[in-house]
Amino acid sequence: MYRMGEAEVRRVRKVIQSGRMFRYSEGGECATFERDWAAHVGVKYARLTTSGTTALYAALVGLGIGPGCQVIVPSYTYMATALAVLAAGAIPVVADVDESLTLSPKDVERRITRYTKAIIPVHMVGLPSDMDKIMRLARKHQLLVVEDACQAVGGGYKGKKLGRFGHAAGFSFNFFKNISAGEGGGFVTNDEQAFLRGSVAVDCCAYYWNPDEKRADLQFAGHNFRANEFSGALLNEQLKRLDDMLDRMRSAKQELLEVGLEAGLRSIKNNSLEYECGSHLGFYFKNEKAARTFCDRLKAQKVSAFLPMDTGRHVYTRWDPLLRYQGAHHPALDPFKIEANRKCRVEYSLDMCQDSLDILNRAVLIGMHPDNKRARLGQMAKAIRAAAKEAVRS
Ligand SMILES: Cc1ncc(COP(=O)(O)O)c(C=O)c1O
Repeated sequence: MYRMGEAEVRRVRKVIQSGRMFRYSEGGECATFERDWAAHVGVKYARLTTSGTTALYAALVGLGIGPGCQVIVPSYTYMATALAVLAAGAIPVVADVDESLTLSPKDVERRITRYTKAIIPVHMVGLPSDMDKIMRLARKHQLLVVEDACQAVGGGYKGKKLGRFGHAAGFSFNFFKNISAGEGGGFVTNDEQAFLRGSVAVDCCAYYWNPDEKRADLQFAGHNFRANEFSGALLNEQLKRLDDMLDRMRSAKQELLEVGLEAGLRSIKNNSLEYECGSHLGFYFKNEKAARTFCDRLKAQKVSAFLPMDTGRHVYTRWDPLLRYQGAHHPALDPFKIEANRKCRVEYSLDMCQDSLDILNRAVLIGMHPDNKRARLGQMAKAIRAAAKEAVRS
């Protein structure tokens, strides 16, 4: 739902004309974005990468997560969250979401074992997780927290930006996100060690650009998920647009939420209505039939709506690599097979998060868009009222 236009074209043109497309040349587009993004989120460090997946991977590696660790992820998230855990060599443990469609702190506590090292709360569809409870749990059990803010770029929770609550966080700037470079991502942290290690994970030469100390811990073999100056240029322009877009969506969501409530609908749990992204308005229904009736009526009125259960690889029942225990391209590297994980392996099944399936089948999400004008919001309100009448009756 990003906006993109002439400003981005001009900025990318400048990069092409300068011939400086490598981030470590004099151009500085990536470095500028990293500085500004860290300031925007309110953290010390940000590193651009090629995707949200590699950003999460870097955050995990940065914090020292690897074989022998279990990491708790929610049942409702794009499967990349769980696969990033596997890429780091650790074992994902899947926990239920609650009526906020984000990680249930209650279920997280139930699934903590002596091998649990980290929790990844995912701020799905722009909705913040219950960070107060999750951070309290993390402190109680001495766990690390990596926020997956891939779908909540620019959003906040109780007055602070998402990404500054945990020990690190990952963001995506892919085609579908609040700001976009087509593909892209980045991780943030306040922890210098996590930043340096995570930087090596995504740029194998990161340490050698500036090896002024002999640090053995930073001379492991990293990958190359290095961002380029075109992405940096796009994101520098995109960032200027972000707050206004989110303000518009948030206020439209609040207006349409009132319409739904007056029409007798029940809202999903919103953990921070005033600071979230506002990209999705959600309602709950007594059963799946009522939810589908509501959703179908909205779509018939050209209002974009969906059941979270229906969204591609975003529900654990569709995470095939995990359910098939295919954790890597080679068995000797596969976290499900290596000796270091023998004690912390878990069994997965299609019904391991039954409460989540019930919730995801009874909720309907309505997409907001920053360019929706007053007339369009009026049409949406009318469609919500009519669809609510039918759903309540069904
Ligand atoms: C919740 C969540 N986590 C992680 C990712 C991975 O991001 P990317 O596609 O940029 O790798 C996505 C992308 O859609 C996502 O929605």
